[in-house]
Amino acid sequence: MLTTWLYISVSALPADAQAAAIDAIVDVSRSRNAGLDVTGALIFSGSRFAQLIEGPADSVATLRAAIKRDVRHRNVTTIEAGTSGARLFAGWSLAYSGHSTFVDRELLRIGEQHVQDAAAASRNLKLVLTEFSRSGGVNGL
Ligand SMILES: Cc1cc2nc3c(=O)[nH]c(=O)nc-3n(C[C@H](O)[C@H](O)[C@H](O)COP(=O)(O)O)c2cc1C
Repeated sequence: MLTTWLYISVSALPADAQAAAIDAIVDVSRSRNAGLDVTGALIFSGSRFAQLIEGPADSVATLRAAIKRDVRHRNVTTIEAGTSGARLFAGWSLAYSGHSTFVDRELLRIGEQHVQDAAAASRNLKLVLTEFSRSGGVNGL
């Protein structure tokens, strides 16, 4: 059984620091997640992040703690924390990064939906992540 964590957060990155920060996050994530047997996908809309991580329980707990205390974002809102029988992602990827009002509104809308209907918000966020990710959708979505 895999442990999963799905969240949305608000970027704390000033515009002129974004590109370098995203590069640094991708670099550390590629190697660290592989070592922890964690897969998933990250989206950056310019002002919000969304991410799914999936893997062994202790690995996900370690990463979750590191990510939550990272000052490059704030308001880390858990959309789903649970378990799954199969991975949604074969590897770890930056599924989308850029300034997109459309993606940003989607993330805002899903964050609001989470309050009313947590299951629907979680389904919708997984769809957004898999649709953006070339390596996504290996199991079911
Ligand atoms: C939005 C966001 C997503 C991140 N995702 C990951 C990730 O998937 N894997 C990872 O190792 N670090 C990720 N990081 C970086 C971690 O927060 C942390 O800086 C890094 O793992 C080093 O851990 P440490 O601070 O405990 O040394 C992310 C940071 C941010 C802001």
